[in-house]
Amino acid sequence: MSTLTDQWRQALLAWDIPQEILSQAPTSPWIHPVEIFEVKESEAVTITPSAQKALEALPLGGSILDVGSGGGKATAQLLPTAAHVIGVDHQPEMLEKYQEMAQSREISVETFHGDWPDVAGKVPAADVVVCHHVLYNVQDLAPFLIALNEHARKRVVIEIPEHHPLTSSSGLWKHFWNLDRPTEPSAELALSIARELGFAAEIEHSTIASRSSVAMQKMVEFTRIRLCLSPESDAEIQGILESAPADTIREVATIWWDVA
Ligand SMILES: C[S@@+](CC[C@H](N)C(=O)[O-])C[C@H]1O[C@@H](n2cnc3c(N)ncnc32)[C@H](O)[C@@H]1O
Repeated sequence: MSTLTDQWRQALLAWDIPQEILSQAPTSPWIHPVEIFEVKESEAVTITPSAQKALEALPLGGSILDVGSGGGKATAQLLPTAAHVIGVDHQPEMLEKYQEMAQSREISVETFHGDWPDVAGKVPAADVVVCHHVLYNVQDLAPFLIALNEHARKRVVIEIPEHHPLTSSSGLWKHFWNLDRPTEPSAELALSIARELGFAAEIEHSTIASRSSVAMQKMVEFTRIRLCLSPESDAEIQGILESAPADTIREVATIWWDVA
């Protein structure tokens, strides 16, 4: 393991929740709720800078592999240029939403359930591989990036927040548990690791719209689970969320490279 990949791993380990808090959690706090990551029928699809980078390399009628696809927000921006789309996710409910998204747009679709890169051997290559908002879940970054690269015929496009996405909850952790949360790792470190692996990776910084919000009741529930709290804290969480409305934009980085 290189110094950089070790730095990435150590930075993610610093996000571990102390055992004395975790043991009080009624359910696992490490959730990705389907409601937040599905593509809603009514949702306008906007072409973000990351989508632009993918479209530059995507031939008309080409294919997309979306790793950590969720409900397909990254893929949806690339239709109808892409004619075949492949989703990989370790949550089956996300893949159901991904299939619905593609089928409702009459696009040919395949899905593969499992952890990337463990399932990579079963997954076909595609013209462009996209991977949005997944890297901060991945401690062992090198094999993950290598498998993305091996599955792209033309380009890999990654989008991640500039810093760990849970940084925005740091105030709540301080309030409820008097716990200081880290801010690292960063998109710049992921870029350095991609370059160290020999990929001609570039980075572009931009702001994009925040994810469309879910109802306040759901927001309170997700926040409570992530903070290892029980429903008795709901009123207090709601008060805090209402007093500090969420940001309407997110600072993200697009990291991309053409395959050799
Ligand atoms: C934050 S969501 C992003 C979903 C989607 N890419 C988007 O931008 O809306 C992260 C997704 O990656 C999936 N995921 C995280 N790590 C994964 C891994 N190693 N292999 C497969 N799926 C993974 C989660 O289940 C979740 O659906």
